[in-house]
Amino acid sequence: MTEQIFVSPSISKAEKYRELLPQIESLITGEEDLIANLANISAALKMAFSFFWVGFYIMRQGELVLGPFQGPLACTRIPLHKGVCGAAARQKKTLVVKDVNQFPGHITCSSESKSEIVVPLVASNEVKLVLDVDSEHLDEFDEVDQEYLEKVVALLKKTLLPMNLS
Ligand code: SME
Repeated sequence: MTEQIFVSPSISKAEKYRELLPQIESLITGEEDLIANLANISAALKMAFSFFWVGFYIMRQGELVLGPFQGPLACTRIPLHKGVCGAAARQKKTLVVKDVNQFPGHITCSSESKSEIVVPLVASNEVKLVLDVDSEHLDEFDEVDQEYLEKVVALLKKTLLPMNLS
């Protein structure tokens, strides 16, 4: 298993994601343990992009429970009617929030977080977990992040299913 993530400096965000994706694929291929893969994906994204917070919430009995992450401490449980994570899980789609303070019901784990993207992993029409990435800058995330973070979640889905994620 690789121990280093390499992403070239001074290239576009899309190019960085394109360099990173095969490295993430090789990190998680052959490892079926969900927690191990979520931990390494969080670390790889943090190393490549220095995101403020990157991690996962796992669906457990109808609420989202904190999983592996990199960054400051975070709230442990998110009901589906709350937060960006709850909304993305409810709607079963990626949400890009340019200013978290304008998002009704946003959950503030850190006042330094200013913008956010949440990508759900949906299998058999059920949300199994969400990938949550926070930035300390307003308007950090766009359709490029959405496209590639959805690819990261698709890789995870391919590797882990039909494992039981519930
Ligand atoms: N802001 C999220 C909560 C999780 S933290 O950002 C790590 C939300 O509103 O769902």
